[in-house]
Amino acid sequence: MSKTEKALREAFAGESQANRRYLAFAEKAEDENMSGVAKLFRAVAAAETIHAHKHLRTLGAVKSTKENIQEAISGETHEFKDMYPQMIADAKEEGNKSAEISFTYANAVEQVHADLYSKALQDPANFPVQDWYVCKICGYTVAAAPPEKCPVCGANPKAFFKAD
Ligand SMILES: [Fe+2]
Ligand SMILES: [Fe+2]
Repeated sequence: MSKTEKALREAFAGESQANRRYLAFAEKAEDENMSGVAKLFRAVAAAETIHAHKHLRTLGAVKSTKENIQEAISGETHEFKDMYPQMIADAKEEGNKSAEISFTYANAVEQVHADLYSKALQDPANFPVQDWYVCKICGYTVAAAPPEKCPVCGANPKAFFKAD
């Protein structure tokens, strides 16, 4: 890998993290009644997304939708088959209950994501255009309408928001 390719990968990771970090900071600023700062965090977060996407496209890592779905499936599968199980085991061993829950929620939902992507891969052009709902507690992702009870974390339908 060239120095530049390595740099693009690192920059993509850093900008992506900055985007999510600033959005989390914006929520906190809203909680603390500092809406002006919240808006600044959201604006800069949007700019970091521009940077992240540019780095990713420059790497040639945005391909055809079919290839992108395959890439998404392999990422989600790696997470629920290898990455999170090990992290859950380590968190348990270290007695870090909140990390264990955080990893366990993500682990369960990544499996759902891999299944959804696998369905989409069967016939991407005819995959239905539908509303998607996401549990704000665990990230469980479901089409059409929120369930009575989140199958991953047990939250009620009010915990679900409609994805853009
Ligand atoms: Fe996922
Ligand atoms: Fe949930």
